[in-house]
Amino acid sequence: MTATVRNVFRDPFKQMLFELGAGYYARKLATGPEADLRREFVQSLQLPPSGNGHGTLRVLDVGCGPGHVARELAQSGHEVTAVDRSRSLLRIARRLARRERSGVQFHLSSTDQLPFPDASFDCCYATGVIYWVENLTATLREMVRVTRPGGLVASLDPHASMSIARVLAYARENSMNSRDSRKLVAWATVAKCNRRFEEGHLWQLLTDAGLESLTLEQRLGGMVWFSRGTVPARVRDGDISDVRTEPGVAFAERG
Ligand SMILES: C[S@@+](CC[C@H](N)C(=O)[O-])C[C@H]1O[C@@H](n2cnc3c(N)ncnc32)[C@H](O)[C@@H]1O
Repeated sequence: MTATVRNVFRDPFKQMLFELGAGYYARKLATGPEADLRREFVQSLQLPPSGNGHGTLRVLDVGCGPGHVARELAQSGHEVTAVDRSRSLLRIARRLARRERSGVQFHLSSTDQLPFPDASFDCCYATGVIYWVENLTATLREMVRVTRPGGLVASLDPHASMSIARVLAYARENSMNSRDSRKLVAWATVAKCNRRFEEGHLWQLLTDAGLESLTLEQRLGGMVWFSRGTVPARVRDGDISDVRTEPGVAFAERG
């Protein structure tokens, strides 16, 4: 099979994997090292909790899957919207959100054509998604487009060093049980089939998408990237249309 033919089939194949494996993914991501890592990721965003003098933030979860991260953010009082193209995963996400009386708004959408006007959100993130999507440049550009100037765009993805040998060593060093180490092995396996990022590559992608003030941090023994950047002010007819602010300051000021 030629590379072009393979590429035509890759995306529908990936989509089918998530439809057929929706229950497995919902369970896999609910507990264990990947769930812990996502909680760490949410904390790393340093979003002020709503109330106590802080306004409510409009947050977008891109490729939300079962919505575990979106529901957690909604618990801190933020207005969370979440998109995914898997109907099965969205069905699970909606059911879990109803059960928790969470106010997350779910939408069926591809990551590279988000159904929102420009600058609709204060923060937009994707956990374990950018390394999966076929059209990652368009996805990152969309994330930047729908985030307001001064807002935050963040992503969680495998580092180039993630491998089965490395995750097994990490699991041993951290005395993980066999179920948790199997989850990490499964992640390393799909990362190998999709993408793992060298620092320069990720930096370039985020810069090309239009982000500035980038921060790239390694977690999970160096095998995972937490990356984030700020959306710059947009220039219209030579004028600055919005004053750029650091995310922390901008978030604190929204009423
Ligand atoms: C590994 S799961 C991560 C789910 C969730 N972000 C989490 O961390 O729990 C990847 C998700 O990305 C979604 N996805 C992959 N490609 C997509 C695309 N092009 N458009 C929308 N969603 C996509 C899948 O349906 C799946 O729910």
